[in-house]
Amino acid sequence: MLTDEQKKQIEIQDKLISDNIHKIKHRIVVFSGKGGVGKTTVSVNIAYGLQAKGNKTGILDADITGPNVPKMLGLSGDLLMENKRVMPKEINGVKVISIANIIPPDQPVIWRGPLRSKLLFQFLGDVEWGYLDYLVADLPPGTGDEIITMTQKMEPDLAIIVTTPQEISLVDSRRAVNMAKKMNIPKIGIIENMSGLMCPECGYRIDLFGSGGGKKQAEEMNVLYLGMLPIDTEARKMADEGKPIILENKNADISIAISNVVDIIKNMLI
Ligand SMILES: Nc1ncnc2c1ncn2[C@@H]1O[C@H](COP(=O)(O)OP(=O)(O)OP(=O)(O)O)[C@@H](O)[C@H]1O
Ligand SMILES: [Mg+2]
Repeated sequence: MLTDEQKKQIEIQDKLISDNIHKIKHRIVVFSGKGGVGKTTVSVNIAYGLQAKGNKTGILDADITGPNVPKMLGLSGDLLMENKRVMPKEINGVKVISIANIIPPDQPVIWRGPLRSKLLFQFLGDVEWGYLDYLVADLPPGTGDEIITMTQKMEPDLAIIVTTPQEISLVDSRRAVNMAKKMNIPKIGIIENMSGLMCPECGYRIDLFGSGGGKKQAEEMNVLYLGMLPIDTEARKMADEGKPIILENKNADISIAISNVVDIIKNMLI
């Protein structure tokens, strides 16, 4: 049972979050059933793709135990406070918040669900996002607490489900799609990542994990198909160096594919 004081605190926090997020035009959550399928890669590159097309954009790293966004952006340093509000970091014109800019590197976050959710409430309510066109939230794998917290409090208008083409990932992504449906997210789209590898020597396409499963799944589950991104060794290398491929090499096949996804998202969320 909650005390009256606790209920009042929750009300205050909900109001803070609601006022803050409604200054953001479009809110997007990126998740998947399976880990390691490219959620952070997709989140970061889509955010920069949106920004490159003239939109004020932010990234919320909602993966509290595996916060990879700052690493993929080469973003370090502590967060600053102004007028009792947390200021997001900014890199190449995109605002970013992550627990990785709060805790020392290499320190594990051994927090149970409620504590992780509490930090996400602060990311939504206490961070001074200002007016944004898009906020992209990179979620942890699975269908756990963070996904529920973010969809309830952030009120996203789009869920992007990332999958790789092989059955083991597609099976998990079906759970993710069903979760997005259950949480009443108005628009749901699937991206197939790591779809085919072009041999840089001979140009032959190797379907390492298969191809086409994401599109088929989107059709079967009656959700939007946003496109496929190829495996790109330069993108992986750039990510390790903290540089999103879409900023580093606009002409790479993967950057062109991301740019197409961004156009679909923009047209969808008018
Ligand atoms: N299309 C791609 N081509 C090449 N490498 C990729 C591609 N997509 C992702 N990667 C690489 O695969 C690894 C996993 O990607 P990423 O961290 O984005 O996955 P994730 O789904 O966020 O993982 P986690 O579930 O741990 O949060 C990274 O090293 C990333 O650079
Ligand atoms: Mg990730």
